[in-house]
Amino acid sequence: MISRRQFVSAALALGGAYAIGPRISQAKPSEGFLVLKAEEFDYSLAPQELPNSPFWFYNRQTPGPEIRVRKGETVKVRFINQLPEPTSIHWHGIRIDNAMDGVSGLTQQAVAPGDSFDYEFVAPDAGTYWYHAHNKSWNEVARGLYGALIVDELEPTFERANEITLVVDDWRVDREGNLDLASLGALMDWSHGGRLGNILTVNGQFQTKIEVKPGQNYRLRLINASNARILHFDPARIGALVLAYDGQALSVPATFGDTPLFLGPAQRADLLMTPSLGKDFELEEVSTERAFPIVQFAVVGEATSNSAAPRLMPNRLPEPNLGTARQFRLDMTGGAMGNFVETTYNSKVLRDGDFRTTGQVWAFNGIANLAKSPFFAVERGESVTVDIINNTAFAHAMHVHGHHFKIVERVDSDIDEGQPWRDTFLSVPGETTRIAFVADNPGKWLLHCHMLEHAAAGMNTWFEVT
Ligand code: C2O
Ligand code: CU
Repeated sequence: MISRRQFVSAALALGGAYAIGPRISQAKPSEGFLVLKAEEFDYSLAPQELPNSPFWFYNRQTPGPEIRVRKGETVKVRFINQLPEPTSIHWHGIRIDNAMDGVSGLTQQAVAPGDSFDYEFVAPDAGTYWYHAHNKSWNEVARGLYGALIVDELEPTFERANEITLVVDDWRVDREGNLDLASLGALMDWSHGGRLGNILTVNGQFQTKIEVKPGQNYRLRLINASNARILHFDPARIGALVLAYDGQALSVPATFGDTPLFLGPAQRADLLMTPSLGKDFELEEVSTERAFPIVQFAVVGEATSNSAAPRLMPNRLPEPNLGTARQFRLDMTGGAMGNFVETTYNSKVLRDGDFRTTGQVWAFNGIANLAKSPFFAVERGESVTVDIINNTAFAHAMHVHGHHFKIVERVDSDIDEGQPWRDTFLSVPGETTRIAFVADNPGKWLLHCHMLEHAAAGMNTWFEVT
């Protein structure tokens, strides 16, 4: 078995090549529709060491083209499906028009092979977002169907050259180095921590190298595109501050103290970093005993004078009224080593053998996956709180579609939450988290675990705003 270390040293030996990040495409009305085509593409994660594998990419690149618009602008994408299976695109973290949310089977019909679909929506909030496939996501995202979606502030805070998008993914390859397709759908992964990979890439490359200039302020936009891996970072090691979390700006750039910055699947963090002359540095993933460098920054050129530390303008979002909020509770159960509760799937109570045949091994309030009726229905404009109780042996990255929420209460938490608004949060075993938001976006919205295997295996529900 080739180890990750061996892959990495092979990649290092290539040397020289400096990545310039993902190719950027605008998707603005003035420029018509940006065409995104999903298709199979032979690619190798480490060109000289690994054989080509049949990935699924948008426009034959990984990550897919970075889409950039300014806050308040309309995104226009003509999506063409050239895959052998139906798919759709979800615009993660955008408070979007429901019909454009891209959830196959809930907000639209999956786009059949050979068909196309036009997405057109306003991006109301500045920040770092991403887009990804939302039909059998555990399969389609694992094969590479995602890209960055950046919504610029009205008044740009950073020069464009000083904004660096870093899309992090962990891929699973087999002992020959091929993309491990045989393991997709393994119940072992579904019932445990999800499908973890064995290669970490940034913008589709090992140990990406990026040149930066001394004395300049940089904004590093980190996006965790992994199916299930929780990434840990320690911004303090490189003197970086956190500017934004899950797309939403902090009012003041913050350190995360002694705790690592956890980035669950689908989460984003924007870091503020100012390189010093002669001091190359590495961004490391620190969840393992030995910190693992994922990006190498080479500091080149003359020192320029440092501008004042930039601040981002937080997006204006409606404050939930906790006094009048409708209160709901979501009990998460199931999985390996979890508590067993009676579980219903497709209106039928699951019996012994059913778990294996249906793959439904997790549940929310005793229901696996989407039921006919919603978890809750509220009227547009009502405030809502949901107590999310993790009665399982695993962490989960809980994601709400169409809204941003606040964490208003957490019991027994050892994850520091310094920042109010988000679209995804990590829930650890035994923990209860109360989230609150104003249900002001009409339509049918998913609430699910973003460990994509967990969602497929039952951790998926929906609510309705009428
Ligand atoms: Cu990022 Cu329902 O997804
Ligand atoms: Cu989960």
